[in-house]
Amino acid sequence: MNAAAPARTYPTRIFSGIQPSGGLTLGNYLGALKRFVEKQNEGIESIYCIVDMHAITVWQDPERLRHATRELAAGYLASGIDPERSILFNQSQVSAHAELGWIFNCVARLGWMNRMTQFKDKTAGKNAENSSLGLYAYPALMAADILVYRATHVPVGEDQKQHVELTRDIAAKFNHDFKVDCFPLTIPVIEGAATRVMSLRDGTKKMSKSDPSDASRINMTDDADAIAKKLKRAVTDPEPLPDTPEGLEGRAEARNLVNIYAALAGTTPSQVLADFGGKGFGVFKPALADLAVSVLSPISAEMSRLMQDPAEIDRLLARGAERADAIARPILEEVFDIVGMVRSRRG
Ligand code: AMP
Ligand code: TRP
Repeated sequence: MNAAAPARTYPTRIFSGIQPSGGLTLGNYLGALKRFVEKQNEGIESIYCIVDMHAITVWQDPERLRHATRELAAGYLASGIDPERSILFNQSQVSAHAELGWIFNCVARLGWMNRMTQFKDKTAGKNAENSSLGLYAYPALMAADILVYRATHVPVGEDQKQHVELTRDIAAKFNHDFKVDCFPLTIPVIEGAATRVMSLRDGTKKMSKSDPSDASRINMTDDADAIAKKLKRAVTDPEPLPDTPEGLEGRAEARNLVNIYAALAGTTPSQVLADFGGKGFGVFKPALADLAVSVLSPISAEMSRLMQDPAEIDRLLARGAERADAIARPILEEVFDIVGMVRSRRG
């Protein structure tokens, strides 16, 4: 790009991914899936991925990985992702991700990787020397997932913000080093009441599929009884709810349940507190449990139905992969050319 050239504009395109590394949680649904569906329904071109290559950065039993991949596909579909309007596929079927990932391993700096808090969290209390090299390089692969489609917007939960910022750093360094305008500076889209759903047992910890306590999370496959039980037993304080969100200061558990309610109901924490301010958890928790069951039960029922026909899920993923590949391959070829790779076997 010469100095006088106007900056290139990239058409709006959304990309996001979820790891098939266990069951889906309410955190995934509110922080990711529900918002993906909203973006799709706004008519924005959207590409959604099941990032199986990311999942194997920590050990995955092969049969469980296969099952979790199909179950996550069912979760996307049951939540409202339309495989015609959006592109839905699993990462390993589009090899351009891994190929661009390698190039980005050569763009990203060790010092950048050393600042990634998720790597630090995932290795905390363990022998970091014994983690896979893939776990360390993971954010460069994530940048490739996004940039191999020149995606401009990435809806994610709060925990992924740093990785999307690294994606911007990689794009900027690539553009700068090769004096091109090849990649957009992707924007993380972190919005809504539930960008960080917390554990039901400890308001300072993120709700996570890897938490050893099943009571800490709502799984998308939990039945109505389990959902209600977990919410009613969620750790809270003895005070009634305040009238406004400011009153939730210092009350992490109460804030979490109010945020979950607001996100499930498609409203704001202020509105929830306008309705429930002054009421105790004896009233609020059963109302939250009813709401959660009414939203989640149809999704989990649809997931079970879809899981009865794994061949159909595989067919949809293969079709999604073809469509994704058709976008990614020409961009990857452009990148190889910029980098100076000889590609003489191409037609
Ligand atoms: P993962 O399950 O780690 O692959 O996460 C997939 C998506 O769900 C990412 O966009 C995460 O930011 C989001 N997510 C995971 N856990 C939570 C949570 N507790 N609250 C909000 N978003 C979450
Ligand atoms: N790292 C994300 C997570 O753990 C998953 C992911 C991989 C992703 N590639 C992505 C999210 C690209 C958004 C865009 O949640």
